[in-house]
Amino acid sequence: MITDSWNIRAEAVLPGGVSSNVRLSAPKVCFTGGAGSRLFDVDGKEYVDYLLGQGPAFLGHGHPEVTAAVSEATSRGMVFGAQHTLEIEAAEAFLDAVGWAEQVRFGVSGTEADQGALRLARAATGRNRIVRFSGSYHGWLDNVLMDFQAARPRPASAGQPAKSLSDWIVLPYNDETAVEQAFTDHGDDIAAVIVEPVMCNNGVIPPEPGFLDLLRNLCTKAGALLIFDEVITGFRLSRGGAAEVYGVVPDLAVYGKAVAGGWPVSAMAGSRDLMSLIASGTVNHSGTFNASTMAAAAVIATQRVLREDPPYERIRAHSEKLKASLTDIAVRHDISLRIHGVDAAFHVGIAKDPSANSKVSTYQDLASLDLARYSDLTAAFARAGLWVAGRGVWYVSAAHDDTDIAFASRAFEHVLAEVSAR
Ligand SMILES: Cc1ncc(COP(=O)(O)O)c(C=O)c1O
Repeated sequence: MITDSWNIRAEAVLPGGVSSNVRLSAPKVCFTGGAGSRLFDVDGKEYVDYLLGQGPAFLGHGHPEVTAAVSEATSRGMVFGAQHTLEIEAAEAFLDAVGWAEQVRFGVSGTEADQGALRLARAATGRNRIVRFSGSYHGWLDNVLMDFQAARPRPASAGQPAKSLSDWIVLPYNDETAVEQAFTDHGDDIAAVIVEPVMCNNGVIPPEPGFLDLLRNLCTKAGALLIFDEVITGFRLSRGGAAEVYGVVPDLAVYGKAVAGGWPVSAMAGSRDLMSLIASGTVNHSGTFNASTMAAAAVIATQRVLREDPPYERIRAHSEKLKASLTDIAVRHDISLRIHGVDAAFHVGIAKDPSANSKVSTYQDLASLDLARYSDLTAAFARAGLWVAGRGVWYVSAAHDDTDIAFASRAFEHVLAEVSAR
């Protein structure tokens, strides 16, 4: 297979053969490209893609409007060391979609936008402690990367100084009592609560009714800021993201992935008042490549597509149909599939105990699922032409249609038939 020779070349020049550690555990394939909901590898094999590059390809791969806009922008040059027209239009389009925010700073990765929001929250409040929730992910840098399994903040990487995590208070997601207690104990020291409003990184866990409101109220009362990490949920749940869907307005929010149709763009948004700390230079947020012409053009084109042809109802219907098909296949093969999440992103797992209630509302509840068993299946899924993540997250894009459900269902059926025959 041609794939094998590319993988040998990859291993020779890229650590682990990959460019992000998240990909170390992915099946060894080598893609040449994608179109819409499909990917193609060097052997000419076609895959239906429900991973979307971990989320960014929300409009599908190579969306013609985004591609044309980026290519036109490239011809104007890339960065000028000063503002340009596209960047202002991108900010206007972005804020129109988000609704509640007054100003936005663009960046390149979600990780750095999270850093900006945390720095801004500490500067605005003069406090240091930050509340977060176990299982959430806010980037790979020293002061945020945490071992998901640990009850207390613990580095997840060699070389990460343990003391860089000393300001965190880590609580179980959806646990109102724990959050109330943390504010009782440390309210005066808490600069911010940062939360993935739907905890997509581990389990795609929606907030229990009232949970986000509670965070909002506690933050307001204590003079702390509420930061929504909408890197996954932004523009994917609705144009206004989770803030719109759940009707809770944060003080700051961070976006990435879907904001620019797959182009590397992130954003940090908030009120003019908070952003004035950046405007005055009191808080530093910088970046050579921030709001390049291509990035800005990609934001404008993506936001235009989402505004003029909102995919959210299509995605809801697709997601329902796809989940029903997967569930039906699993039942026929006597496998206890558990699916939960939201329309555009859901988690697929296999229950350890088929008779147990596997409701998942915290990261800890994922222990009821045999995550390793599911993860082991992803190589077989890939061989059958179904591209999904080992962690169980499936993303639905605006480009998916019924033919993708049929394709994915055939692959899923093929693998589950093999498993149940063992
Ligand atoms: C919720 C959340 N925040 C931040 C990040 C970091 O974004 P990036 O990988 O673009 O640095 C991610 C990445 O998956 C994420 O899911």
